[in-house]
Amino acid sequence: MELSHHMRAVEITEPGGPDVLKPCTRAVPVPGHGQIVIRVAYAGVNRPDALQRAGSYAPPANASPLPGLEASGTVVETGPGVTRYSIGDKVCALLPGGGYAEYVTTPEAHALPIPDGLSMKEAACLPETCFTVWSNVVMRGGLKAGERFLVHGGSSGIGTTAIQIAKALGARVFTTAGSDEKCAACEALGAEKALNYRSGDFVAMMHDEGGAQLILDMVGGSYLPRNVKALATEGRLVQIAFLQGAKVELNFAEVMMRRLTITGSTLRPQSDLAKARIAAEVEAHVWPMIAAGKFRPVMDSEFPLEQAAAAHARMESSGHVGKIVLKVE
Ligand SMILES: NC(=O)c1ccc[n+]([C@@H]2O[C@H](COP(=O)([O-])OP(=O)(O)OC[C@H]3O[C@@H](n4cnc5c(N)ncnc54)[C@H](OP(=O)(O)O)[C@@H]3O)[C@@H](O)[C@H]2O)c1
Repeated sequence: MELSHHMRAVEITEPGGPDVLKPCTRAVPVPGHGQIVIRVAYAGVNRPDALQRAGSYAPPANASPLPGLEASGTVVETGPGVTRYSIGDKVCALLPGGGYAEYVTTPEAHALPIPDGLSMKEAACLPETCFTVWSNVVMRGGLKAGERFLVHGGSSGIGTTAIQIAKALGARVFTTAGSDEKCAACEALGAEKALNYRSGDFVAMMHDEGGAQLILDMVGGSYLPRNVKALATEGRLVQIAFLQGAKVELNFAEVMMRRLTITGSTLRPQSDLAKARIAAEVEAHVWPMIAAGKFRPVMDSEFPLEQAAAAHARMESSGHVGKIVLKVE
């Protein structure tokens, strides 16, 4: 397929607020060994994009400096060594960066077929959250059926995904969110109890239930010692972000006495092989949940690519429930 040499994209002109995101023109990327080029239909917007824009989450070496960690679209070119995908295939993919553009490259092992029954718009919202939730809640956190699982930020892209996947696994799901409306949305998705953290105490909620066996947290700060208190004996805490800060005072005697595990991870800096392993698990376990109607991404809003700044402003207003997407095609 003959591609034009230039494409529309959105760049980060300097570290700062949403307004530093500006439309630009870039050369169409060339696929390396094992990589595909995707003509992007929709790109998902994620909180780590806002951190990158603000200058506090640098892209890994060799990654595109353009923002965008996930997209859906059509394969338009394949690099040497590509075996699974052909030109014309529809995919959604985890990206090392560069999703806010008409074309993007990624290893084919990080791309998955569009699940039956989902639109390209919905599929663009799957990779970043599904990879993050599956790798942290199941591969790292070891969630089992019947366990009490607490996820903070239940109405976020990550939270709405975690609630549905944990519920589909047979866990009892508890969550926190910043308004009664958001809590109602979380309970509609399958959370047994959603607590408005502005008026209630999640430690008390979990103590009433016997403690959480697993917590997925993105808040950190004052939540860290409270998460430790909310865990049951031998409970696990998986940290995926620190929206309230990463430096806290903590009494580790509690960790020792109740045999707790504190761990965490970030997806983007992991090796291509590690991400390929997560992709395979997501396809094997999460795609069947979608086919069975147990999980569907929760869509908040859509913006044209050129209005990425408005999409970031919406995300940072925290008025959203679920995922925000950019329409690129
Ligand atoms: N480790 C990884 O690999 C990885 C990968 C992807 C995302 N993440 C992280 O996961 C988090 C969610 O990502 P996302 O894309 O789903 O973002 P998102 O939809 O913007 O969600 C962020 C949520 O955090 C809540 N929040 C914000 N500030 C808070 C505070 N000070 N205290 C309590 N809650 C607060 C907001 O809910 P309320 O309005 O209800 O407070 C909001 O729903 C982000 O922090 C992101 O950096 C980590």
